[in-house]
Amino acid sequence: MELSKIFLPVILFVLTLGFGLWLSLSGKPYSGWPFNIHKLLALGAVILAGLQVYSLMSGPSPQGWLFVLIVVATLCTVTLFASGAFLSIGNWNAQMLLNIHRIAIAMAIICVAAVITLLSRKVL
Ligand code: HEM
Repeated sequence: MELSKIFLPVILFVLTLGFGLWLSLSGKPYSGWPFNIHKLLALGAVILAGLQVYSLMSGPSPQGWLFVLIVVATLCTVTLFASGAFLSIGNWNAQMLLNIHRIAIAMAIICVAAVITLLSRKVL
């Protein structure tokens, strides 16, 4: 089943969420290794997800809802990396950045779940 390719990025994404919560709960200043693991897991999840979604979309380029969802998920990812970077620099309004990080996480989860559902209908 081709869709099993999505499992590894999903596991990395869930681990990213876990380390993000740990980071939030442990407070500032952010401890070095959970922060680095959070960033590296996020990077790994995004690269793997991008590669796997690309390889699952064999045939014509995505259209309709699939296209919209992939664009929104990409914008959420950019927002996550930007808000995460500004949170770590620490000279912006932290609460506002954390809210942006949280909204982008929620939207990314919805989009990724919807993309997986649409792709599974095509692939299975
Ligand atoms: C796929 C990408 C990412 C996901 C899913 C993610 C997820 C999370 C989650 C769930 C939290 C806990 C938020 C809360 O308390 O409700 C968090 C916190 C945090 N994340 Fe991320 N994150 C991602 C990428 C990044 C990146 C790339 C960076 C840094 C460049 C980053 C920096 C931070 C920081 C600094 C916090 C702690 C905020 C605080 O409570 O003060 N994140 N992240």
